[in-house]
Amino acid sequence: MIKIQTLVKKFDKRTAVNGLNLEIEQGEIFGLLGPNGAGKTTTIRMLTMLTKPTSGDILINGLHIGRDDEKIKALIGVVPQHINLDQDLTVGENLELHGRLHHMSESQRKTRTMELLEYVELTERAYDRVQSLSGGMKRRLLIARALMHQPKILLLDEPTVALDPQVRRRLWDLIRRMHNDHITVLLTTHYIEEAENLCNRVAIMEKGKLIALDTPVSLCQHVGAYVVEWEGDIGRKYNFFTAREQAADFAGTLDTTTMIRHSNLEDVFVELTGRKVIG
Ligand SMILES: Nc1ncnc2c1ncn2[C@@H]1O[C@H](COP(=O)(O)OP(=O)(O)O)[C@@H](O)[C@H]1O
Ligand SMILES: [Mg+2]
Repeated sequence: MIKIQTLVKKFDKRTAVNGLNLEIEQGEIFGLLGPNGAGKTTTIRMLTMLTKPTSGDILINGLHIGRDDEKIKALIGVVPQHINLDQDLTVGENLELHGRLHHMSESQRKTRTMELLEYVELTERAYDRVQSLSGGMKRRLLIARALMHQPKILLLDEPTVALDPQVRRRLWDLIRRMHNDHITVLLTTHYIEEAENLCNRVAIMEKGKLIALDTPVSLCQHVGAYVVEWEGDIGRKYNFFTAREQAADFAGTLDTTTMIRHSNLEDVFVELTGRKVIG
C-alpha cells in the first residue's frame, strides 16, 4: 500500500531522513516511533507532498509521489502534528471547507459532515466555533476533516500529543474503529505506550534511520521477553531473558532487591540505542 524506497531528505547540511526503506500493508495500524528530531514529521510531510524528497521514491497504491500527486491526494487523509483548523469557523464549516477543496458536491458534503460528526462524537458542537473546543475535541475534528473525502489511508502525526490519558484512550478507540473500517493507518508517536497498545507493527526511528521494525511483541522478544531490574552501583541495571524461570534464577543470585517484569518497547529502545528515555 505504501512503499518507501531509500528516502532521503536533507535541509542544508542536516539530514532529517537518511535512506529510509519501509513497506506498510493495507489495513495495518503502523507506528513510526522515535524521539524528537528522529525524522518522523519530515517523513509524513514527504508522504503528504508538503515537502519534496532530496532523493528516493514513495509509492502509494502503485502511484508515484512526484508524478501522480493529484490521484494520491484523493487516497490519503492527513492529521498534522499542529492543529491547523480554522479557529473562527464552526466545526461544521471546517469540514465543509475541506469537502470543497476536494471537489465534493454540496449534498455529498452535507451527508458526510453529519456522518463524521456522529463518528467522532461532535454532533452537538456542529455550530460552535472551533476556538471553543477542548484539545481532545480539536483532535477528533482533525480526524473527521482528514476522513471527509473518504481516503483509504490516514496519516497521523503525533495524534495524541499533550492530551491527558483518558482523552488519549478515547482517540485510540477512534483509531481502532477506523482500522475496523479497513482504513490503513500510519501514525507517528514518541509515546511508547501508544505504539505498544495501538499498532500492529512498529518501526523505531532514530536520526533519520530505522533501527528496528516488527510487531511490538516480537520486538520485545528480540531483546528478551523478561527483564530483571535492580539498583546497581551506578544506576539501574537490566538483564533480559527469554523465560521467566531463567529470570527468576538470575534474580536469585543477586544480593539485592530485584523486580521481574515483562519487557516493553522502552527496553527495546534503550537496548538498541543506549539512550535512556525516548521523550
Ligand atoms: N524545515 C526544516 N528546516 C531545517 N531543518 C529541519 C526542518 N524540518 C525538520 N528539520 C530537522 O530535521 C530533523 C528531523 O525533524 P522532524 O522530522 O521534525 O523530527 P520528529 O518529527 O521525529 O521530531 C530535526 O533535526 C529537525 O531539526
Ligand atoms: Mg514530529
